[in-house]
Amino acid sequence: MEKGLTLVPLQEDLFKSVVELANKLFGPGYMSLGQLEKFFKDTGGEKANLSFVFKNTSNEVIGFRLTYGPNTWQKPLAGKIKYDSSRWGCPENKAGYFWTIGLDSRYQGAGLAKEMSEASANALKAAGAQAILTFSWKQSPGGASQRYLEKFGFKAVHEWPNFWSHLDYECVLCGKNCHCSAIEMIKKL
Ligand SMILES: CC(C)(COP(=O)(O)OP(=O)(O)OC[C@H]1O[C@@H](n2cnc3c(N)ncnc32)[C@H](O)[C@@H]1OP(=O)(O)O)[C@@H](O)C(=O)NCCC(=O)NCCS
Repeated sequence: MEKGLTLVPLQEDLFKSVVELANKLFGPGYMSLGQLEKFFKDTGGEKANLSFVFKNTSNEVIGFRLTYGPNTWQKPLAGKIKYDSSRWGCPENKAGYFWTIGLDSRYQGAGLAKEMSEASANALKAAGAQAILTFSWKQSPGGASQRYLEKFGFKAVHEWPNFWSHLDYECVLCGKNCHCSAIEMIKKL
């Protein structure tokens, strides 16, 4: 790991830095502070320790891996898509969910996503999860999202066009009215 970077569980004093990085990577309006606060509360907060970040010595977040534990993601996801758990080979209530991940561009391509994801996967396993569900950003620059997920053991099971079009944000690739696709992927634990 690069000198000066620390992998720590997500904590409240880092929220602002996570939101800033997420909106820089995906586009303005992608994530709000209120949304992150709600996510943290709904996923069990500091006690659950499912989400991880890399921070530098100035306490700035340079990477985040945000993760829902079993039975905490159904409501937010059902508001977005009509998912079909028969594709996953795992009971719905035994699946964790990788919501979103990002690394400051200076740190991409060095395997840091794997370290954050391993920490989350271990925490999910300890919480009784048998698999992890995620939706990869198909148009991620350089195809990095799908490449990192496949290396980490995820398999594609479905494709969703216009996955983020319901969000009122400005995609870094499409601007307003995002038409990026998501690849639904699953990894057995
Ligand atoms: C996706 C992401 C988290 C992967 O993290 P990472 O630590 O860079 O992952 P890896 O080092 O394992 O890189 C994965 C692959 O993508 C490539 N890659 C990473 N960043 C890249 C970039 N900006 N441009 C082109 N290729 C890139 C790597 O070289 C590697 O390719 P390889 O498998 O042929 O060696 C990170 O690249 C990122 O934050 N991207 C922007 C946001 C994003 O797409 N998030 C995912 C949303 S679902």
